[in-house]
Amino acid sequence: MLSKIAISSLLAVALVQARPMEIVPHPMLERSTTELSLTAQLRLADTAADRYQLLPKDEDFVFDFNKNPDLPIANHISFPALVGSGASFSLSQLPACSMSFVHLHPRATELFAITSGRVLSEMVPEGGVLDSKVNQRVIRAEISQGMLTIYPAGSFHTQVNPDCEPANFTAAFTSEDSGISLVADQTFAFSDDVIAATFGQSIAGEDIDKVRHAIPGNMLIKVEECLTKCGKQKRQV
Ligand SMILES: *[C@@H]1O[C@H](CO)[C@@H](O)[C@H](O)[C@H]1NC(C)=O
Repeated sequence: MLSKIAISSLLAVALVQARPMEIVPHPMLERSTTELSLTAQLRLADTAADRYQLLPKDEDFVFDFNKNPDLPIANHISFPALVGSGASFSLSQLPACSMSFVHLHPRATELFAITSGRVLSEMVPEGGVLDSKVNQRVIRAEISQGMLTIYPAGSFHTQVNPDCEPANFTAAFTSEDSGISLVADQTFAFSDDVIAATFGQSIAGEDIDKVRHAIPGNMLIKVEECLTKCGKQKRQV
């Protein structure tokens, strides 16, 4: 058995050894943390409790969508109180006669709910690798006020508003930084040979470029027949 003195001296040695060595900051880290964005400071906080000190005002816990009409998403950047929550949220509109670009979120499942209007939703989820051509599932849903659909992370999805009124929606994401990938843009970013091979040599070289340049640069596409039905001009919507 160790004597009491032996134990306490062992403890003393252990404590000395555990004393942190003087830390010499790497030149890259010499910037003071206050130069970092609030989001970055929140990410660096040691504990969730510490984050509250970086968000001293009650207003820090409110996001006003009315003040952010151009970027209607509360995420870790626009709403730093979300840091550490693993969630983000959008409250927006799909204008009359429009379709959102086929896209996916690489890091989040999306819960998409309609608060007014109607949306036709189409989703292509992951498929088995070997038999995807035979069994590729396409999930279509018509959702209107009070209804919700789910887009699992990585699934391709799009929504069409086929009506003459805007459709209001909310979308909750299971990541602060859900990310977005535009499927057509990204596919056609590959080199021509890769695209030709991918599409079974069915598109010739000059057509690949034509397709590439024809891909709308906007997240929303106008649906022509709907515009006609609603008596709207393309640019008025
Ligand atoms: C849809 O959202 C817009 C913008 O927030 C709002 O002005 C409008 O009243 C909403 N429509 C309905 C039917 O709730």
